[in-house]
Amino acid sequence: MRHFLKLSDFSPDELRRIVQRAIAIKADGIGRDRPLAGRTLAMVFTKNSTRTRVSFETGMAKFGGHALFLHADATQLGRDEPVADTARVLSRMCDAIMIRNDSQADQEEMARYSRVPVINGLSDLHHPCQLLADMQTWFEHRGDPRGKVAAWIGDGNNVCHSWIEAAALFGFTLRVACPKGFEPAKDLLAAAGSSVEILRGASFAANGADLLVTDTWTSMGQETEQQRRVTAFSDFQIDAALMARAKPDAIFMHCLPVHRGQEVTAEVIDGPQSVVWDEAENRLWAQMALLEFLLQKK
Ligand code: CP
Ligand code: NVA
Repeated sequence: MRHFLKLSDFSPDELRRIVQRAIAIKADGIGRDRPLAGRTLAMVFTKNSTRTRVSFETGMAKFGGHALFLHADATQLGRDEPVADTARVLSRMCDAIMIRNDSQADQEEMARYSRVPVINGLSDLHHPCQLLADMQTWFEHRGDPRGKVAAWIGDGNNVCHSWIEAAALFGFTLRVACPKGFEPAKDLLAAAGSSVEILRGASFAANGADLLVTDTWTSMGQETEQQRRVTAFSDFQIDAALMARAKPDAIFMHCLPVHRGQEVTAEVIDGPQSVVWDEAENRLWAQMALLEFLLQKK
C-alpha cells in the first residue's frame, strides 16, 4: 500500500509512468473498462477548492467509482475528532482518502492510521497532485522536461516546494526568484541539490528559461498578511517584459486561482504563451492515472 503525500514518495520512474498514463487516458477519453467500479474516495477538505475537488470527483465517476465530498466543518473532524480516529474509520469504508488541509504533519498522521492510500490534495508544505498535472502539461506542449530550465517567480510556498521536488525527480533545473523572507524550506532545497538555484532578481531567473511559473502571493490562511505581501512581492510580477526574457517558445504556468495584476498580468496569463487551461484540465487526467496506480489490484 502506498501513499502520495509528496512528489518524492514516488520514484522518478513511477512518476514518469503516471504522467505517460495520464496522457494516454486523456487520449482515450475515459477509462473504458471502469477499473474503479464499486470503489470510493473520501475527499476531506478544510479549505476551499475548485479544481482539486472537481477533478477527483469527476475522475472517480469516469472510472466507475464514487467520491464523497467531506468538508471538515460538516464532519466530526471539525468538532475535534482526532485525525487518527478519522483515518481509521474512513479507511474501513473507503478505498482511498484525499485530504486538503494546512498540516502536512496531520496528513502523515492520517497515513499512519489509514488502511488505504492517502493522497495530499494540498497542505501547508506540498501540492504533489498539481505537479503531476504540470509535468503532463510540460510534456504535452514541449516534450520531456529533462535538461530544461524552469523559473519559479514568487512565493516559496507549497506549490513551489513541489516544483523543487519535481526538478530533481524529472531532471530539470528550477530557478527560484523570491523576496527575502519568502524562501522555500531549507531541507527541500538541500535535498534538491544542484537542481535548484535561488536567485534574488526575477529577470535573472527568467533569462533564457523554457518555462515561467508562479502562484498567488497570498495563499489560503495568509489573508491577514495580504497587504504586507503585495508590497514585498511588487518586483516579482510576471509581465510581458519578463516573459520576453525567457526563450521565445517559453510557456507560462499557474496552478490557479490567479490574481491578475498581482503575480501575473492579464496580458501574460490570457496570452499565447500561457498553458494554464490545459494545466487545469490535466488535473483530471493526471489524478485518474494516480488513482489507477494506487488502487489497481496487484
Ligand atoms: N490548483 C488548485 O489546487 O486549485 P483548487 O484550489 O481550485 O483546487
Ligand atoms: N498556494 C496556494 C495554492 C492554491 C491551489 C494556496 O495554498 O492557497
